[in-house]
Amino acid sequence: GAAVEVDISTLQPGEKRVVEWRGKPVWIMRRSSEQLAALEKIEPQLADPTSERKAYPTPEYAKNRHRSIKPEVFVGVGICTHLGCSPGDKFTPGPQPSLPDDWVGGFLCACHGSTFDLAGRVFKNKPAPDNLEVPPHYYTSDTTLLIG
Ligand code: FES
Repeated sequence: GAAVEVDISTLQPGEKRVVEWRGKPVWIMRRSSEQLAALEKIEPQLADPTSERKAYPTPEYAKNRHRSIKPEVFVGVGICTHLGCSPGDKFTPGPQPSLPDDWVGGFLCACHGSTFDLAGRVFKNKPAPDNLEVPPHYYTSDTTLLIG
């Protein structure tokens, strides 16, 4: 099958890995406790904080604030939902004037300026129509992830 198995046992807080699944880059990021805490503060600025939009439907098990099964581990497709560029990491407060002082980062698509938080949730008034896609995935052990 097309499923991809990933060992996340050595993934460090703040670290993001990229694996390929069906020709797409899938990001696996272990968010630090600060990064997780920031997901709540940013919600008023997000277009769809509870992942209701359907362009890239979010699996039920990821329809939560952190958009993941394990709160700390984000699994998302690293392709912008606008026109398919690959967003970069951890944009700084420059492009988003009202971010909190303790902003811990997010993803910026340089093509047309869509910005996403560290759960792949798109900010308001951005060209991307939806949050980043969460691929179907599950855990076969505490540290083994199966994507697909
Ligand atoms: Fe990402 Fe247009 S492709 S903002």
